[in-house]
Amino acid sequence: MSAGLYAQLKSQARALYDAESDFAANAGNFAALVRHELPDVNWAGFYLATPSGDLVLGPFSGRPACTRIAAGRGVCGAAAARRETLVVPDVSAFADHIVCDSASRSEIVVPLLRDGELWGVFDVDSSELDRFTADDRAGLERLLAAMDLHASTER
Ligand code: SME
Repeated sequence: MSAGLYAQLKSQARALYDAESDFAANAGNFAALVRHELPDVNWAGFYLATPSGDLVLGPFSGRPACTRIAAGRGVCGAAAARRETLVVPDVSAFADHIVCDSASRSEIVVPLLRDGELWGVFDVDSSELDRFTADDRAGLERLLAAMDLHASTER
């Protein structure tokens, strides 16, 4: 089921930004698509890497969120530091979880790399416990790789 859902998301995302190269426009639409098309998702968005190592809030869909995450902090910082996707089935059990929307109970964070450099992470939250499966992890990783969004896209 979810492989089909991710294939559908990919064609929807492509249709949205095939004709546009602006990062903010495409990443904003991408976040909105993930938030509204994946079941039980209350927040989806980008945090972008800065030279200091902090992550700063990028295009997203959902309630207002913390604007800056110090290097290595939270689920986002941990995924960025490890350069590996983190699936947190119960955010209350993740000691360094940063609460942005108190409704969020589980979370997945995918690090975003280009030419070996980390340029950000994509974070998806759910109000359901244990919402994100191995299929979601594979689906999101593949979707993001196929989209090849990149923060420094030329305007
Ligand atoms: N929970 C994240 C912070 C970002 S919000 O969920 C949008 C974290 O612990 O890094």
